[in-house]
Amino acid sequence: MALKINSLGGYIHEYQKSVNDPEGFWAEIADQFYWRKKWDKVLEWNFEEPNIKWFLNAKFNITENIFERNLFTHADKTAIIFEPNDPKESPQHITYRELYEKVCQFSNVLKAQGIQKGDRVIIYMPMVPEAAVAMLACARVGAVHSVVFAGFSSSALADRIEDCQAKMVLTSDGNFRGAKSIDVKSVVDEAVAKTSTIEKVIVLQRTGIPVTMQEGLDLWWHEAIEGVSTENKAEEMDSEDMLFILYTSGSTGKPKGVVHSCGGYMVYTTYTFQNVFHYNPGDIFWCTADVGWITGHSYIVYGPLISGATTLMFEGVPTYPDAGRFWEVVDKHQVNQFYTAPTAIRALQAFGLEVVQKYQLSSLKVLGSVGEPINEEAWHWYHDHIGKGKCPIVDTWWQTETGGILISPLPGITPTKPSYATLPLPGVQPLIVDNEGRELKGNSVEGNLCIKFPWPSMIRTTYGDHERCRNTYFGNYPGLYFTGDGVKRDEDGYYRILGRVDDVINVSGHRLGTAEVENAINEHPLVIESAVVGYPHDIKGQGIYAYVIAESNANMTDTEDELKQEIILTVSKIIGPIAKPDKIQIVSGLPKTRSGKIMRRILRKVAEGDVSNLGDTSTLLNPEVVDEIKAKAGLA
Ligand code: PRX
Repeated sequence: MALKINSLGGYIHEYQKSVNDPEGFWAEIADQFYWRKKWDKVLEWNFEEPNIKWFLNAKFNITENIFERNLFTHADKTAIIFEPNDPKESPQHITYRELYEKVCQFSNVLKAQGIQKGDRVIIYMPMVPEAAVAMLACARVGAVHSVVFAGFSSSALADRIEDCQAKMVLTSDGNFRGAKSIDVKSVVDEAVAKTSTIEKVIVLQRTGIPVTMQEGLDLWWHEAIEGVSTENKAEEMDSEDMLFILYTSGSTGKPKGVVHSCGGYMVYTTYTFQNVFHYNPGDIFWCTADVGWITGHSYIVYGPLISGATTLMFEGVPTYPDAGRFWEVVDKHQVNQFYTAPTAIRALQAFGLEVVQKYQLSSLKVLGSVGEPINEEAWHWYHDHIGKGKCPIVDTWWQTETGGILISPLPGITPTKPSYATLPLPGVQPLIVDNEGRELKGNSVEGNLCIKFPWPSMIRTTYGDHERCRNTYFGNYPGLYFTGDGVKRDEDGYYRILGRVDDVINVSGHRLGTAEVENAINEHPLVIESAVVGYPHDIKGQGIYAYVIAESNANMTDTEDELKQEIILTVSKIIGPIAKPDKIQIVSGLPKTRSGKIMRRILRKVAEGDVSNLGDTSTLLNPEVVDEIKAKAGLA
């Protein structure tokens, strides 16, 4: 495929073309993919309903673009390098032909177990090649996969099963994570017991932890594939058929199922993979995300594999067996493009330079960052000590809903500026509005980031509730897609993402709704009410600060610590360990307006440790509570 931009002039030219003639621009790119039948029309859209359709009536299967097309040219090339959690376990190199056979075989298993086009399948698995096999087999038979990060709790998993009415769960007996092995199957058992739609659970043997297998429901992966054919004809999919659902947190209610469709997602993730990382044939690409997040979907699995690239899957954690693991893996596999999150960079930076200096890191050509704003210090450390000053950093801004990267430098082409995502990619038309929805034109402006024109991999709906999709993304500013992020456009027209402007917090690059965490805290029997805000955290970017009103209890002062521990456990159980509050403050009341709304602004200030400018608190229903909160936080 020749999708690559090679110069700044080329970028400007392509960008202009994509704005002046979006349909012509994307048709030319889409032409380079394998379609059984091409589209009748490139695009149909309005942002009011919203209704977004790309490559209308085109027929194809995304996995044919990975396998059938690539097999002619590189059947024996490595598709996936698997680096296990334990460095003593040998890595695996899986060729395109081998991966094709595994995917075909597992597609046949899915069908034999009653999965048909359109059925939803939950994937709750460790970072092993079988997770990619599972996703691709679903895509091949036309089933809709919904990968759930295997750190989520059984109730979070049950919510997702229930919401999409999934028929099957693909899981493992356990996960290796650093020095620990984690029981996964019992989490699935609990979730399945709480729901009514799951007909089969297929269990990969990974850790050998003893598990209970329920007759008629549970099946071992290795037994299910035994003797099954490695040939399978891919299901014909329409461009707008659903490819997957991925649940993500918002400012209200339970996580919503972001829906992506087949055609536009394929074209956009492949185009952006090749341009943002400047992937060249023979390169080894490593994205450290988990396949449970959108980054793993688009830039471990789909973008790289459709490009015929070699993608590295790492099962472990950055600090096991020591904080040099990432760098050891880079050297071992001669990684050329490395893509990670600022939180990992900051965490590893804290271990000091000696850990890094043991490694050459000479294969690296491009470094990527994703998930949260990268602070200047981390940017420079990454640039100087990992990239040795010679690797461009691509600070890529995007979201679960956008499917692929929207704002990012092109490596070696776009001059970079620390902490700036720089410029929109071709096809992306950002716009900044103030809180009243007025466009802020020109440079040196700051406001809410919106996009005014569709791009191929954008969200189509939220599963089972289109109105929610409309309200969340298209309801704030009519005619625009609203990202939920604040942004600055500087004097050079460069974009710098400032963070969320809604009630979403970004903890270690993971999105959590404050309401979601509050609901979990409120499940504790002694909790009356709670309010959660984010605060700056050195490693995580943002930490979770919870203010909690508890039942009055004569011994409360003695048991506060216990209560806090129990609250943390409750949140872990209801959502998962990633949502555990970093700080909990027991309070007697929460600052509220006369209409009963919590004044989060004040709580944020206290959590940040800066109460110099709390603004007018006299209109509060209970102004006295502010002094109490300040005093207890040690800020009076
Ligand atoms: O706030 C932005 C932040 O992550 C949010 C999207 O989170 P999620 O859907 O989980 O996807 C993360 C991976 C694509 C955004 O609304 N974010 C993502 N990338 C950046 C970022 N903030 C600043 N700079 C980035 N490069």
